[in-house]
Amino acid sequence: MPKEKYKRTLVTAALPYANGPLHIGHLAGAYLPADIYVRYLRLKGEDVVFVCGSDEHGAAITLRAKKEGISPREIIDKYHSINQKSFEDFGISFDIYHRTSDPVHIETSQAVFKKLHENDKFIEKTTEQFYDTEHNMFLADRYVMGTCPKCGYDSAYGDQCENCGTSLNPTELINPKSVLSNKTPELRETTHWFLPMNDYQEWLEEWIIKEKKGVWKTNVYGQCKGWLTQKLQPRAMTRDLDWGVPVPLEGAEGKVLYVWLDAPIGYISATKAWAETHNKDWEKYWKSEDTRLLHFIGKDNIVFHAIIFPIILKAHGDFILPENVPANNFLNLEGKKISTSRDWAVWVGEYMNDFPEQGDALRYVLTAIAPETSDSEFTWKDFQQRNNSELVATLGNFVHRTLVLTHKYFEGKVQPKGTMAVYDKQVLEAVGIQKQKIEQAIENFHFRDAQYELLELARIGNKYLADTEPWKLIKEDKELVGTILNVASQLSANLAILMRPFLPKAAEKLAYMLNFDYLSTVFDWEKVGKEDLLTPFVPFREAELLFEKIEDKTVAAQLEKLEQKALANQKPKEAKSEIKFEDFQSMDIRVATITAAEKVKKANKLLQLTLQTGLDTRTVVSGIAAYYKPEDIIGKQVCVLVNLAPRKIRGIESQGMILMAEDKDGKLAFVSPSQAVSDGSTIA
Ligand code: 2FM
Ligand code: ZN
Repeated sequence: MPKEKYKRTLVTAALPYANGPLHIGHLAGAYLPADIYVRYLRLKGEDVVFVCGSDEHGAAITLRAKKEGISPREIIDKYHSINQKSFEDFGISFDIYHRTSDPVHIETSQAVFKKLHENDKFIEKTTEQFYDTEHNMFLADRYVMGTCPKCGYDSAYGDQCENCGTSLNPTELINPKSVLSNKTPELRETTHWFLPMNDYQEWLEEWIIKEKKGVWKTNVYGQCKGWLTQKLQPRAMTRDLDWGVPVPLEGAEGKVLYVWLDAPIGYISATKAWAETHNKDWEKYWKSEDTRLLHFIGKDNIVFHAIIFPIILKAHGDFILPENVPANNFLNLEGKKISTSRDWAVWVGEYMNDFPEQGDALRYVLTAIAPETSDSEFTWKDFQQRNNSELVATLGNFVHRTLVLTHKYFEGKVQPKGTMAVYDKQVLEAVGIQKQKIEQAIENFHFRDAQYELLELARIGNKYLADTEPWKLIKEDKELVGTILNVASQLSANLAILMRPFLPKAAEKLAYMLNFDYLSTVFDWEKVGKEDLLTPFVPFREAELLFEKIEDKTVAAQLEKLEQKALANQKPKEAKSEIKFEDFQSMDIRVATITAAEKVKKANKLLQLTLQTGLDTRTVVSGIAAYYKPEDIIGKQVCVLVNLAPRKIRGIESQGMILMAEDKDGKLAFVSPSQAVSDGSTIA
């Protein structure tokens, strides 16, 4: 159905697991793009509902509870409110933030399961599954870890390898281990209800490969195509767990719905709960073909939303299918993957504490660097730079100059337009042109481009003021200055509306300064570029800065905080097995001074070092080029294992090994005596 035919839109954003706080990767992946989209539709006066909530089931939650010796409920209650508050403070404007422990959800997901069961949409199968004999329980996929058969990553989960994204079955893992006991689990028989996904292969080929080509983003389309090429397999829709939505069948005690069956149904439950309190009909949003259903997610959720959930919806028969599944890639942080367990993240709650007035600055930067086409990276330096040069010096500066000059020359009152020069008209026409570009980009889920075009309008405004120089002209032609400031003010008012999906708080503030209320000017997207938004002689309020500059010391403090937390969280490598004292004694470790150092040709990582060991002068090749520059280490004392058998590295004989401290990320640092000692001193 063409887009124009849709009467309403239901936007869902992935339900985050309530087992930890939210970080900027979550925002950039799903919630911020969804929020921009929804705010845009609201500004256009469309019927749109935006649902989200906590995903309270799943092994990630029970695992954490087991590790911490507390109940899953304690964890989810805590994080449900923390996350809800983070979203709210950051300005993600859900219509409802529901939760999957709500009775509405239990009932809804059980009803879906029952209907599928009654209509023979499942296959009941007894299979062998991993069982932990120490903990006396079947191990859900996430409770098993091992080596990925596809890429060799040694910490792949039983359901998915986070390194290569491949979806797995626990039995496919090489060297599987129970996460609970770290023992090799044994296989035991258990019965489950499987969704025969293979039966939907042809239908999906038609629906996705044909219909969604060029419609869905290439990353989403590509992943789906990959799945379909590999051929779909039946997938169990129930689990042996004591946490989750109970399977609503007799004889299924101790079994719960698979979290990826129950969680997306959470979107339906959330819509029901919202409709209940808003006197609306939830069914319109899920059962009517003139509703556009959109799932905003991160790339690790693609298969569940683009293949598995649509199969469930189709098998059920009453529900519509998603029109689009705009998924983003991942956001990295300061050169590394964001990691909750290693505390390598910028947490939304912490950011809002540190920058309570600068939520929009983070929105801006996360959209400017959105991982729309590939993984992207957040760095504090770039954050500062974009904030200071784009928000402060471009957008903020333009509206501030306009307001300040109007106050200075005209007591803050918008002046009537006099004769309009070609340039004045061009500037106002640019509003309509930019509006169209922004619309087109948003509607195609290109939020980065859309925001760029918004800033472009502020750039046009800045250039206009710089070219017309009202501050010089005021002495000669006050009326003309009135016209220029009218144009700049109209532009600012249009910017307030265009900004609103991206920078909602700044948009409100600008509207306040421009006195929108007094003017009864409303935030109406359709008015942008069409008519004058400001009426002559209406006074502006006092001009305040829209955005705050971010200082070097602020950035340095954030970087320091990040490094400190990551250091505190480093887990040491597993301990090695015991050795005898003689084993240690057999190593001859000496203090030596580096007397020369150079890069090894055609080897990025290697340095060739000349060492004065006290015994002799020798050459050692060491893989430290990424951490030390040759010129910086001459004269440095290091520790060297001198009785290691020589070996050739890149054609150079390396006569020993320098002792290095290596952290969990593989970063290397010399181990050196704490004060100068003579070369040849022994280490014992
Ligand atoms: O990946 C996650 O965080 C899941 N909790 C997302 C669930 S989305 C939907 F299906 F509910
Ligand atoms: Zn892998």
